Amino acid sequence: MENPKDSPKGVSAGNSQIWLIGNKGMLGTELSLLFESRGLAHTGTDREVDVTDIAALEAFAANQAAPITWIVNCAAYTAVDKAEDDTGLCRRLNTDGPANIAQTAKKIGAKLIHISTDYVFNGKGVTAGNPPALRPYREDDPTDPIGVYGLTKRDGEIRILENSPASYIVRTAWLYGKHGNNFVHTMLRLMNEKDSVSVVDDQRGSPTWAYDLSGVIADLICTAHAGRHIPYGIYHFSNEGSITWFDFAREIYEQGRNLGLISKSCVVKPCTSAEFPAKVTRPEYSVLDKSKIKAALGITPPDWKTSLSEFLKICDPLKTS
Ligand SMILES: NC(=O)c1ccc[n+]([C@@H]2O[C@H](COP(=O)([O-])OP(=O)(O)OC[C@H]3O[C@@H](n4cnc5c(N)ncnc54)[C@H](OP(=O)(O)O)[C@@H]3O)[C@@H](O)[C@H]2O)c1
Repeated sequence: MENPKDSPKGVSAGNSQIWLIGNKGMLGTELSLLFESRGLAHTGTDREVDVTDIAALEAFAANQAAPITWIVNCAAYTAVDKAEDDTGLCRRLNTDGPANIAQTAKKIGAKLIHISTDYVFNGKGVTAGNPPALRPYREDDPTDPIGVYGLTKRDGEIRILENSPASYIVRTAWLYGKHGNNFVHTMLRLMNEKDSVSVVDDQRGSPTWAYDLSGVIADLICTAHAGRHIPYGIYHFSNEGSITWFDFAREIYEQGRNLGLISKSCVVKPCTSAEFPAKVTRPEYSVLDKSKIKAALGITPPDWKTSLSEFLKICDPLKTS
């Protein structure tokens, strides 16, 4: 079993290239760097090639000297609370955008990798076993999004599957990384500023380091370049482990203190979601079952604590201020 981080360098097929859409976002930036380090030829676009404008997408694809054989879509509307008041834009980006990208991919004969989310589920979980207990969500479990963001992302998945049969949809959760605002950066900043922070202890999931997810996306491409076909469809990926945001914050504090990223003591307190009223209800349980992607790629996703410690070693302290 190999870890995405240890995977061999990918060999680009002929003079073809990957088109990375949303290359300036948190995941897109990470992925762009990983493609570079694995020797995977790629081009990237962000807002300058608007995913809501199919003519712009088609024109960009038509103007490339090297044929595009893969499209990876990391562009999205990701402001979960703001989405409740911004339904139109959120839908254009998360549903119409993927439909446009899928149609473009089909037109140019490119395979597509699209990123989706645990928010397609309602967070109540699925009960199984004896005695009954919650089990991680599988790819074919019924979706039931509870907010605008999740609803538009689920509709985006459907539009991808309808428009481009040669597609992979990778659902992930609790994403953090070096190149964006995220929970880890926020916690490090607050823990440097405050004597205590309260963090919800009633939402359970699995953090995902954008670097690890990038490795999986690159593995999907490299595996195909190596001549092995992985069936198209939906896959789940996150780091291993099932924790609450409070558990995550406590570990960020422990490790951050040890590494000198947090310069003073701060008490991390558990609280309930009810104490933090938000526009949209967060899923209570969003642990994803990763068996399908593990078997398909022969990978062992890193444990959340290990990935957090790797991340904190290279984390930019300026991002936390
Ligand atoms: N972040 C998470 O915790 C999380 C969890 C689960 C799944 N996901 C999924 O993972 C994927 C990557 O998330 P992320 O956190 O890396 O997102 P992100 O940082 O918000 O990046 C999205 C990128 O898309 C760009 N964009 C916005 N409008 C565009 C348009 N009309 N055309 C082209 N590009 C446009 C954004 O530009 P601006 O920044 O200028 O708007 C940004 O650079 C998304 O599909 C998201 O739904 C994220």
